[in-house]
Amino acid sequence: MGFLEEIKRRRTFGIISHPDAGKTTLTEKLLLFGGAIQEAGAVKSNKIKKTATSDFMEIERQRGISVATSVLAFVYKDKKINILDTPGHKDFAEDTFRTLTAVDSVIVVIDVAKGVEEQTEKLVEVCRMRNIPMIVFINKLDREGKDAFDLLDEVEQKLGLTVTPLSLPIGMGYDFKGIYNLWERNIQLFQDEQKQTIGKKITFEQVDDPELEAAIGSARLNTLKEELELVEGVYPPFDQSAYLEGKLQPVLFGSALNNFGVEELLNCFIDIAPEPLPKTSEERLIQPEEKQFSGFVFKIHANMDPNHRDRLAFVKIVSGTFERNTPYLHVRHNKKLKFSSPNAFFAEKKEIVDVSYPGDIVGLHDTGNFKIGDTLTSGELLQFKGIPSFSPEHFRYINNKDPMKAKQLTKGIDQLMDEGVAQLFTLNLNGRKVIGTVGALQFEVIQYRLLHEYGAQCSFENLNVHKACWIEGDEKSTLFQDFKRIKQKFLAQDKSDQLVFLADSAFSLQMAQEQYKELQFHFTSEF
Ligand code: G4P
Repeated sequence: MGFLEEIKRRRTFGIISHPDAGKTTLTEKLLLFGGAIQEAGAVKSNKIKKTATSDFMEIERQRGISVATSVLAFVYKDKKINILDTPGHKDFAEDTFRTLTAVDSVIVVIDVAKGVEEQTEKLVEVCRMRNIPMIVFINKLDREGKDAFDLLDEVEQKLGLTVTPLSLPIGMGYDFKGIYNLWERNIQLFQDEQKQTIGKKITFEQVDDPELEAAIGSARLNTLKEELELVEGVYPPFDQSAYLEGKLQPVLFGSALNNFGVEELLNCFIDIAPEPLPKTSEERLIQPEEKQFSGFVFKIHANMDPNHRDRLAFVKIVSGTFERNTPYLHVRHNKKLKFSSPNAFFAEKKEIVDVSYPGDIVGLHDTGNFKIGDTLTSGELLQFKGIPSFSPEHFRYINNKDPMKAKQLTKGIDQLMDEGVAQLFTLNLNGRKVIGTVGALQFEVIQYRLLHEYGAQCSFENLNVHKACWIEGDEKSTLFQDFKRIKQKFLAQDKSDQLVFLADSAFSLQMAQEQYKELQFHFTSEF
């Protein structure tokens, strides 16, 4: 197969949802249909169970699983599908945001009974801002839930999407009879025993089929006909280019647990979802078909074995081919690096691969060269954009508890920050180090990992900060100088020496924004 065909057959996407909507179950069923696993139950959930005795111990256990499930790849109808895993726990939302920079499209899973939930809103907002094509899958139709049309309204209103249904449920919960598939124009009846394997289906091609009427009853059939008319009258017809531009979101219904509607989702997905897309760098737009290799690091995973300090850097290939034992330029260090054992991912296994193509993810063993957002190329000086740090919400001073291990602590903090676990700020006033995180759980993770992986002990001390924001303005202006003098107590540098304002309250942030109108207050590090 040629280079261009290889690119065209790739579909790289992420599944996002509020915890418990069915992301893991759906992933597993997609793998089942892709023939990558033989039975359900094979994919381990990487979610943090509510019953965990201690959250950070659970996270340690999960870290092992999440290496394995970071990328799940399989071939379906000759398409190479790469599913990028996103953590469901809200304290790890930043990991999910970063993973979203490496996907070409997403599937949003919504629980039919719960409707649009908080975490879904946040994640969809990020996708909307980046115009990522989205398919919505409404799950758990075997349970009583909200009316399908009410849900479509809710999705439009709460998520700010423009939807068009590509399937419609017939009944729901105990009375769930099946699905009308508007994409393939057929009807499928729901059978209870479908659960764990791919069973035989009962499909009707026509709404007027008398056997269909016999199966679902004439009342149901009439409602279905009315609803189909409603769909035609109210919703825009599906338009692939509008979907690809992020302006229209198709919606499908099903039950992941019951294997129902999943194959239809997958078939529709491979028909409409985008192949690898071009990506913007600081310098220019990079097309996947370009012969020269380029890619970027969107995730770093520390090894579980504390004796080996090696880490796995996940690189999304943007253009060209990535080949084993070939020197590539690490742009930030301006250094050539060669990789003898790049990992590719297949279902839950990783294997060494010789060649990978745009859309693929390779895992590179790293001893500390990489940080999130780094670009690798065949030689061109490029820097990919779009992996910002978000303004953290929890802040604590970090102190060294063991003076003999100062070096280990510095190194450990440095590497954990490169991995994107948290952000480090150095106060201008006294040089003290402050850790900022998106969720409170990360402090436990940092403390635990510093001890177990670097032999360093730290303690945290509370610090009253409401929000961190990056400041931009004319350095030479009197206003900027005034700001720096007056707010000195609240200023810090981040790891790349950008100026950060640590506002102690919403009020003081608002006051500063009003008082220093010519300065810009950014809530992500990339502006
Ligand atoms: P997540 O990754 O989005 O957090 O959700 P996950 O797939 O783990 O699913 C959450 C719960 O919802 C699981 O039940 C799962 O079995 C159930 N579920 C998923 N899809 C469907 C569906 O189509 N119908 C019904 N009725 N349930 C569904 P659990 O009891 O929390 O976990 P488990 O003990 O079954 O693993």
